[in-house]
Amino acid sequence: MAARHSSWRCTVLMAGLSFFMAAAWVTAGERAFPKDLIPEADFVKLYVETVKQMQEYARSQSSLNQDYKKLENEAYHLIVLCAVQRKIGDEASIRKAIAAQNAGKVIAAAAVKKDHATVKQLLTDIADWNKIQAEEAIQPQVKSLIDDVPMDNFMKGLVQPLFDRFDKTPRAYRNLNAANFNAKLPEIQLACYKMAIYSWATYFYVPEADDIPKGKSDKDWEKWTADMMKASEDLLAATKAKKQSDLRSAVRRLDSSCTKCHDDFRMKD
Ligand code: HEC
Repeated sequence: MAARHSSWRCTVLMAGLSFFMAAAWVTAGERAFPKDLIPEADFVKLYVETVKQMQEYARSQSSLNQDYKKLENEAYHLIVLCAVQRKIGDEASIRKAIAAQNAGKVIAAAAVKKDHATVKQLLTDIADWNKIQAEEAIQPQVKSLIDDVPMDNFMKGLVQPLFDRFDKTPRAYRNLNAANFNAKLPEIQLACYKMAIYSWATYFYVPEADDIPKGKSDKDWEKWTADMMKASEDLLAATKAKKQSDLRSAVRRLDSSCTKCHDDFRMKD
């Protein structure tokens, strides 16, 4: 009993400590998100866009049958987005973000089962950010995302398609003509926020010590995630300055952060 009591006290002490230390860029298992990068109003835009997209995939049983994989990935996006809100939001929005994350986990599982009734109900519950039934417990710590968002879905389903919107197709942001680039700036800005969010989230996927390739360390992982974040911040700055040439060079730096990390860490089969 005594041992249990003291370990309880220890947990409370450590929880308080890590909350206090969350202001630093990296603390043991806890990574902060740049505080002023995404204003609350823009977070809400991202949230609304995400839930709308999910509702679209789930508008009927037959669309769910067709788009359940897309819905699953969009639910993972919701979980990652709300993880960031837990780092930057005030107390009320941290509670709402936790509730939305919990819904996102159930939606991801229900999507795979093509369980339309469950998906529909949960999407109704969380549709309006201002009216979400907030969680009681407040937990700003985001220890990890790997249990809730599988790495394969994260990289292939979230990061790659978002990167392609900047780089690959003839209609990618870097290839737009000046008039279209200017017309799309609000959309591009939201995409920049998302890339910053994914850069932050990538940090949590650092391999276990045993899986780190010889000659590499978690410091290398950390470096490439920091480079990815820096490039994302540069994308955002270029968008705010309406400078497509800056956006192009930031896309190149972003691309090189992906490639460098893949060179160092990709398990070759
Ligand atoms: C800090 C490291 C890191 C960064 C940065 C990173 N990735 Fe990855 N990525 C990985 C690892 C490790 C894997 C392999 C995961 C596995 O095999 O389980 C991977 C896998 C992938 C895959 C799946 C490929 C396949 O064939 O299975 C894609 C696609 C991908 N990443 C895209 C990107 C893009 C695009 C970026 C940059 C915008 C990026 N990644 C940035 C570490 C990183």
